[in-house]
Amino acid sequence: MAARQNADLLVENAGRLYTMSGGTGPLRGAALREVQIVENGALAAANGEIVLVGTSDWVRERIRLVPGCEVVDAEGAAVIPGFVDPHTHAVFAQPRAFEFGRRLCGESYVSIAQSGGGIRASVRDFRTMDEAELVRRTRQRLTSALRYGTTTIEIKSGYGLSLADELKALRVVRQMAQESDMPRCVATCLAAHEIPDEARNDRQAYLRAVCDEILPAVAREGLAERVDVFCEPHVFSVDESRSVLQRGRELGLRGCVHADELEPSGGAELAAQLGADSADHLGRISPAGIAALAASDTVAVLLPGTIFSLGLDSFAPARTMIEAGVAVALATDFNPGSCHCESMPLILAIACTRMRLHPHEALAMATRNAACALGRPRLGRLESGAAADFVLLRSSSIDELCQHLGLDEIDAVYKGGRRLFRRRGTH
Ligand code: NIG
Ligand code: FE
Repeated sequence: MAARQNADLLVENAGRLYTMSGGTGPLRGAALREVQIVENGALAAANGEIVLVGTSDWVRERIRLVPGCEVVDAEGAAVIPGFVDPHTHAVFAQPRAFEFGRRLCGESYVSIAQSGGGIRASVRDFRTMDEAELVRRTRQRLTSALRYGTTTIEIKSGYGLSLADELKALRVVRQMAQESDMPRCVATCLAAHEIPDEARNDRQAYLRAVCDEILPAVAREGLAERVDVFCEPHVFSVDESRSVLQRGRELGLRGCVHADELEPSGGAELAAQLGADSADHLGRISPAGIAALAASDTVAVLLPGTIFSLGLDSFAPARTMIEAGVAVALATDFNPGSCHCESMPLILAIACTRMRLHPHEALAMATRNAACALGRPRLGRLESGAAADFVLLRSSSIDELCQHLGLDEIDAVYKGGRRLFRRRGTH
């Protein structure tokens, strides 16, 4: 028999171990539901990387536990890959809870935005808060996300909307990325989130500032790997969005797009045409947009928490997209206004009920496919060679996490083989 592999971490007796492995790239169509599951599964890791995954007996026979190793008896609980949240706006000053009641009493997101609220209110707040306080608040939020099972998180700037303030936001993300107790971070520059108050009379001047000053500075300082734009009729047009994404590409930044959220405007088609990582939202995607995404490698990142929190009914047509062969993923959209939610389990529950997804589909969309949306195809799956980022659930299946509304089904969270969270008194 071949030599045993050294392991410094072993998780065994998992009732179901959802590996999400097999093939490469995102899962599409029927494969989303047929995810790979090992019953009575185990996972062994060394130096933060998975070395073996299989049934508990099979793994035990093939490893040598090094002195000081950690052995976890999952006692029949499910093990899943850590959630990958591919769309957040986690660096902000404070939530706009005061707008929530206004919206529920009949004002729309757009009319609040046009009267100076919405994103622009968050920009005013953000600019007055110093970097150390933003770091402190963002750290708290990411700690909370981690406790809900998120081990990789994308974070956008977009409440600065000036050179100095966009750099400030992205430095906060860099700080988070350097802290070992935080989820893995992917930084995206969203300077084209809105036109700031001082540029309302000259939007072209602001777009020039984005393309000629902000994006070049971000790229020069290595503060983001991607660029995003809010492509929506009342914000940036398709042509304006294209110029921002193309400028990003010249500077080595991959693209993603806030697309077709409230109205179909061609944002999905633009993302596919430019080979963007993802087109996000898509509550109002057109049939042409679906066809364009299906024929591309661009991932559709669906954000059902936002539609839920805005009290709307325009959930993205997930079933139609899956049938068309689009690579779909899920994210929170965690932000101070339209979706103040850092919990991926809640997003999975909303996705299942309102977009009629099977829990396996929701899980694949929140792990393997979400990782593909961030250009990190080795994350979001449990197989040898992958990072040991995983979550122990309290229950024995993902179905229970999706069905048990509003309660916390997360028992323990590991990133790179290190336990970063454990519910008191368990495992
Ligand atoms: O993705 N749509 C644009 N941006 C955010 C909202 C941000 C906010 O409301 O502060 C979103 O929903
Ligand atoms: Fe967003």
